[in-house]
Amino acid sequence: MAKIALITGATSGIGEACAHLFAREHYNLVLTGRREDRLEKLAKKLNTKYNVEVAVSAFDVRDREQTIVNLEALPAKWKKVTVLVNNAGLSQGLDPIQNGSLDDWDTMIDTNIKGLLYVSKVVANWMIASGHGHIVNIGSIAGKEVYANGNVYCATKHAVDALNKGMRIDLLPHGIKVTGIHPGAVETEFSEVRFKGDKDRAKKVYEGFDPLVADDIAETIWFAVSRPAHVNINDMIVMPTAQANAGTIFRK
Ligand SMILES: NC(=O)c1ccc[n+]([C@@H]2O[C@H](COP(=O)([O-])OP(=O)(O)OC[C@H]3O[C@@H](n4cnc5c(N)ncnc54)[C@H](OP(=O)(O)O)[C@@H]3O)[C@@H](O)[C@H]2O)c1
Repeated sequence: MAKIALITGATSGIGEACAHLFAREHYNLVLTGRREDRLEKLAKKLNTKYNVEVAVSAFDVRDREQTIVNLEALPAKWKKVTVLVNNAGLSQGLDPIQNGSLDDWDTMIDTNIKGLLYVSKVVANWMIASGHGHIVNIGSIAGKEVYANGNVYCATKHAVDALNKGMRIDLLPHGIKVTGIHPGAVETEFSEVRFKGDKDRAKKVYEGFDPLVADDIAETIWFAVSRPAHVNINDMIVMPTAQANAGTIFRK
């Protein structure tokens, strides 16, 4: 029977790249995100290209009820998830703390921390019932360091780092692996979302150097997932060569 990967935030960027890679590796997929049209299109494409089965479940991870109801509504065969990629997340704004938007803060905390928790609780219990599993949490270099005006986004990703460590301890007796992947700058829709659709400002983030692309992170996740049963990759920080740390990028 094919293995199953559940990927949150599969409508773009790193999540979409993971969907392609896991399909290529013959996994059946549960794809989630809010933009259902994108999920349906991707599901069709992957089914045709790789002959894998794909289930789509559209919900907003900030909504506790919606998240739990949608996941639990999946037919039993889809609950035998082998790999959960907790990827859905975002940044909103880039302002000093005293000017920050309360709405942006709520959005980041509700998505990056609470959303990840809601999904993880449901899927961890499925994995416990199956007796195995692997949870991959997408953190960030912002979860290891803090950069100017990154305040609340960095705090949410530090929380993901802590949850990654906590999950690893709690799920240890159940044979469930837990891995944190922490990217530096990856060119996706991330900056467009951060700057609320300002494409020019978003483009500038990646000017003058070669950023990572979503496939680089998908490949890293696949490396962690494809290790032998007795090996777990606890944590990986993956940066563009031109980026030394959260705040230092060498631009030509
Ligand atoms: N790009 C970077 O430089 C970078 C660096 C380090 C870490 N990361 C992390 O990598 C992850 C993926 O980001 P990305 O770069 O691939 O950005 P992206 O292209 O904007 O993708 C973000 C994904 O998250 C989903 N998402 C956002 N809010 C959601 C919500 N409330 N409910 C359900 N899904 C939601 C989006 O789907 P919908 O909009 O369709 O819901 C989308 O599929 C995030 O956790 C991000 O923090 C990114």
